[in-house]
Amino acid sequence: MLHPLVPFASHFTACHQACQLPSYASSAIMIWMNPYALTQESIRNLFNNIAPTYDFLNHLLSLRRDIYWRKKAVLELDGHQGWMLDIATGTGDVAIEMINQGNGKRKVFGLDFSEPMIRKAQEKLLKRNLSGKITLGLGDALFLPFRNNSFVGLVIAFGLRNIPQKEQALSEMVRVVRPGGKVVVLEFTLPERGLMKRIYPFYFKRVLPRVGGWISGDRHAYAYLPDSVSLFRSTKDYEKLMVHSGLREVFSRLLTGGIVSIISGIK
Ligand SMILES: C[S@@+](CC[C@H](N)C(=O)[O-])C[C@H]1O[C@@H](n2cnc3c(N)ncnc32)[C@H](O)[C@@H]1O
Repeated sequence: MLHPLVPFASHFTACHQACQLPSYASSAIMIWMNPYALTQESIRNLFNNIAPTYDFLNHLLSLRRDIYWRKKAVLELDGHQGWMLDIATGTGDVAIEMINQGNGKRKVFGLDFSEPMIRKAQEKLLKRNLSGKITLGLGDALFLPFRNNSFVGLVIAFGLRNIPQKEQALSEMVRVVRPGGKVVVLEFTLPERGLMKRIYPFYFKRVLPRVGGWISGDRHAYAYLPDSVSLFRSTKDYEKLMVHSGLREVFSRLLTGGIVSIISGIK
């Protein structure tokens, strides 16, 4: 399999250096917690700050449903073999799941713009002896350092919500996936009916920010989560964007009563 990075090595190195920006406390910038008012750098700092407790809190706050959600998202790529991309890989769980489901026929590139997150992912890969199958790199979802048509499939899990320039991010995704390849978005959504519609907002807006803030030591980061979802809340929002970016057969699946959704499309 030809490595998708080869012709873009210099671009990637530049991106790598640009990502090594000094980290400073995010609190000053988080004034109104409107994700559209946040800069790339403040969002990166937010994730830099919570990287040490990210996995623990994910499992705790979702009652370990996050593991199932990622599994289901990666299952959307069933039958796709070859190079896969995990955008906003964070601590690398989607990338690892792509390999676990790949029957030895996949290689994965995991990209994220937060260095502490990528370091956590690297530790996991070393522990699981997966460094030969998963390549990790620092880079921005808005300027993917890959050739056109490089990947057979890609996932962005809990990442698109954090990117104010969603059209640009999606157009980059469509560019790097080859024709017939699949783009899969896994994202928090707000339940639109049933019991979840009534009980979930209380948990999401009141309980989660408190517990998350208390354990991570970053109150703002976990207050940001419900705010980032409230602006882009339904699968319809994501579907429209994906159709607009040129994907076909755009399709949504609601998970856990609609608190999380998978939205996918084919190039
Ligand atoms: C909520 S975490 C999700 C991590 C992982 N995908 C998961 O399933 O747990 C969001 C990640 O998106 C990354 N991110 C946000 N905006 C990004 C961008 N423009 N380019 C690359 N990574 C970005 C953050 O650094 C963070 O690691």
